Amino acid sequence: MSHLLHIDSSLRTEGSRSRRLSAHFAARWLAAHPGGTVTYRDLAADPIPHLDHAAFSAGFVPAADRTPEQATAFALGSQLIDEVLAADTILLAMPLYNFGPPSTFKAWFDRIVSHERTVGQLGDKEFVVVTARGGGYQPGSPRHGWDHREPWLRHALTTLGVSDATFIDTELTLARESPAELAAVMRARRTQTNEPARCAVLLPALAQLPEPLALVDVGASAGLTMLFDRYSYDYSGYRLDGADPDAPTLRCRVSGPVPLPSKMPAIVWRIGLDLNPLDVTSDDDVRWLTCLVWPDEEDRAQRLAAAIASARRAPPTIIKGDLLTDLPAVVARAPAGATVVVCHGTVLYYVTPAEREQFADTVRGLDVTWLTSEAPGVVPGTDRPSRDEQMTVLARDGRALAVADSHGTHLDWLG
Ligand SMILES: Cc1cc2nc3c(=O)[nH]c(=O)nc-3n(C[C@H](O)[C@H](O)[C@H](O)COP(=O)(O)O)c2cc1C
Ligand SMILES: C[S@@+](CC[C@H](N)C(=O)[O-])C[C@H]1O[C@@H](n2cnc3c(N)ncnc32)[C@H](O)[C@@H]1O
Repeated sequence: MSHLLHIDSSLRTEGSRSRRLSAHFAARWLAAHPGGTVTYRDLAADPIPHLDHAAFSAGFVPAADRTPEQATAFALGSQLIDEVLAADTILLAMPLYNFGPPSTFKAWFDRIVSHERTVGQLGDKEFVVVTARGGGYQPGSPRHGWDHREPWLRHALTTLGVSDATFIDTELTLARESPAELAAVMRARRTQTNEPARCAVLLPALAQLPEPLALVDVGASAGLTMLFDRYSYDYSGYRLDGADPDAPTLRCRVSGPVPLPSKMPAIVWRIGLDLNPLDVTSDDDVRWLTCLVWPDEEDRAQRLAAAIASARRAPPTIIKGDLLTDLPAVVARAPAGATVVVCHGTVLYYVTPAEREQFADTVRGLDVTWLTSEAPGVVPGTDRPSRDEQMTVLARDGRALAVADSHGTHLDWLG
């Protein structure tokens, strides 16, 4: 007859996701094992005392010589181990508390490790671990790697001979439980994704302009798309080294007659303009930027982290202002004798079509070169070589030069 040992450890009796999951698993297990029996333990309601010296040393002392404390501790340890040995399936429910398991769970685990009875001897048992956590910890998310429960428990179970524990996870439980916190972030923040790889799309067009260059990056976010000459580039194997060896290398697949730059253009002045400049030296802003990368895109997350680290070493200047009203004043600050370049990528769709026309008129009235990388049809007057909204069109002064993917990993120059 099959036997299940079912252990809960959430301090909550109401609303606990791990308890709900483990109860569901236990019900399904019972349905699948007619006549099966269950031992249930609630480590929150009935906590196991932490392993102390009496409990630890009890096993090394002959029964007759144990102190009363050692005898009590030994009896409890034996009972807990008996429960494990009697089970075919051990179901463990574990919330995440301060990036680790509940201390009640750890206290239980410390009691079932015995060289005589369990170490290397539980390989024939099925271990199922159901977990709950308030935040998100998927690969690519800011806290990936911070949840220490699974790595710890897998190692700890390995010493007991268990190498194939099954983990069933639920996360982001606090999104449902603390909606006010989530709503506050939603009210305070806007999408301001800053993708340094977009520099790889603009650089070949930038390098064709007479030097020196003075840049105005409109919709700069945190300014990572202003730092062209900091990054290194790999255009389908053609390399160009940037000024910061620790800044990321932007890899971009090229097709068509891309005018690959023979050297980095000289940028003598640069400034960003944004409705809400993000500050690379603010941990809070950096966390938000990191949250804007989709969880499974680890390469983007790594690139962003490296670009932010580089930007922190010499932060860019970004002025708070509206592209609809404040561009002429910013352009007026550019040094004389430089080619002034107004550039923007993935920005203009934030304003209405009528406002895009208004902005385009403003730019055309200034003595500047206008470099844009926007979705097809977004820059007024620009021809639409692609109808794919996921692509961007690289244009100079409203004339399309190339089509690129919106995250800057592919550039197809028009023949
Ligand atoms: C003391 C305590 C510490 C917590 N620490 C974390 C944490 O470090 N990371 C996290 O994502 N959630 C944390 N949470 C949230 C819980 O993981 C979340 O509420 C989870 O759903 C709890 O499991 P339960 O639903 O089974 O009670 C914590 C909750 C408590 C009560
Ligand atoms: C998607 S982000 C793009 C950031 C950067 N250009 C890039 O390619 O990574 C768009 C940025 O445009 C800014 N923005 C939107 N409307 C704006 C406006 N009217 N004036 C100035 N900036 C604006 C937003 O605040 C945001 O930082």
